[in-house]
Amino acid sequence: MGQAPVVYGQSERPPRGDYTRAASDYTCAQNYAAYTETDHDTYRRLYARQSALLPGRASSEFIAALPALGPHERIPRFEDINARLMPATGWQVVGVPGLIPELDFFRLLAARKFPVTDWIRTPAEFDYIVEPDIFHDLFGHVPLLFNPVLADYVQRYGQGGLKADRLGAGEMLARLYWYTIEFGLIREPDGLRAYGAGILSSSGELVYSVESPKPQRLPLTVERAMRTRYKIDTYQPTYFVIDSLQQLFDLTEADFEPLYARLRGLPEYTADGQILAPGL
Ligand code: PHE
Ligand code: FE
Repeated sequence: MGQAPVVYGQSERPPRGDYTRAASDYTCAQNYAAYTETDHDTYRRLYARQSALLPGRASSEFIAALPALGPHERIPRFEDINARLMPATGWQVVGVPGLIPELDFFRLLAARKFPVTDWIRTPAEFDYIVEPDIFHDLFGHVPLLFNPVLADYVQRYGQGGLKADRLGAGEMLARLYWYTIEFGLIREPDGLRAYGAGILSSSGELVYSVESPKPQRLPLTVERAMRTRYKIDTYQPTYFVIDSLQQLFDLTEADFEPLYARLRGLPEYTADGQILAPGL
């Protein structure tokens, strides 16, 4: 589900996209002529189902920003989205054939370029797809790139990723991405809401994450999120909750280098919150 590049390494299947089309930074032109009527219809139906589920479940910032994606009867053109997105926050979406290596992903984010997979799932994958497709990437991620606070957070995440790579801390930082940008929850005056793209693009998990009594919901701390492993093939057993997007920004402001050093000596948690003995 996640664009989190660690998924690239965890996937047992080769990625689906055609990587021969990609430039050396992994970006490619959106192959708009290749979309079939079925593809456009899949996008339209996914968008309709998902937008009907948003009230009472998606964060108010997300709901406010969603119309900026533009018409949803057909797959949008990246250039049309960029005509609105660039003036709003200086971000742009760029096409990619699918998941890309971690370092290239960080480089694009640091340059305020959000990689969007250009192909869409088949009708048989309507309810669930393992890899991110254009619907996950556009509907899940792009609306909040119109929000100035989240827009800055994602860029700083990319810059932090380049640093984490030098420090050998990529996995810890990938967990923070997973538990915020992909699966984050936010406490609003009217209740719990989702702001993470992996939740917002999934009909099942959008309902589950905010309404089910089963998962554990913890207040976000960077330390706990970085120590918590995650599952890519089930609903999350643990979610981390923030009070505002500004809080997310503030919690991640400090230099992570000393934190990485300290966390290396501490035990990790399983995705469902069991503490693991050191070294397991
Ligand atoms: N503060 C982090 C660092 O020093 C960078 C970062 C910012 C990482 C925001 C994630 C999100 O590495
Ligand atoms: Fe994603």
